[in-house]
Amino acid sequence: MNFIEWSDELMVNVPVIDQQHKNMADILNALYQTLGSGNEMKAKLLMKDLVEDVKIHFETEEDLMKNNKYLNFFSHKLEHDRFVKKAEELNEQVQSGKLQVNLEMMKSFKNWFYNHIDINDKKMGDYLVLKGVADESVGEKVKS
Ligand SMILES: [Fe+2]
Ligand SMILES: [Fe+2]
Repeated sequence: MNFIEWSDELMVNVPVIDQQHKNMADILNALYQTLGSGNEMKAKLLMKDLVEDVKIHFETEEDLMKNNKYLNFFSHKLEHDRFVKKAEELNEQVQSGKLQVNLEMMKSFKNWFYNHIDINDKKMGDYLVLKGVADESVGEKVKS
């Protein structure tokens, strides 16, 4: 069983966002697999990927919110900024070898992922669907 099990309940119904969320879940699952494996090189690479993907993903959401005059833009962006700050700090510590990826860290990523989608991203998704932007092609921001 995966650390993060993807399900329709996580969908926000904006394809570009759902695809990015799925990619993030894949990285988190791969990172979880490195726990206790002693493969620090792989853990470091995945941490780096995670932070990069998260930033691209937040940018995608923020562009969509801004372009569609979403009223909760600032509070949503604040949540993103807080998470990026925390993830970057952890990543720096991991890259320098001061810290190893651990279960506590993974659990906090997982909680954040579920809570943020549930509380913030779904509301934004509903709004974007109403605005009719769900099918817009912003696919260039999705890593293949
Ligand atoms: Fe978000
Ligand atoms: Fe998101």
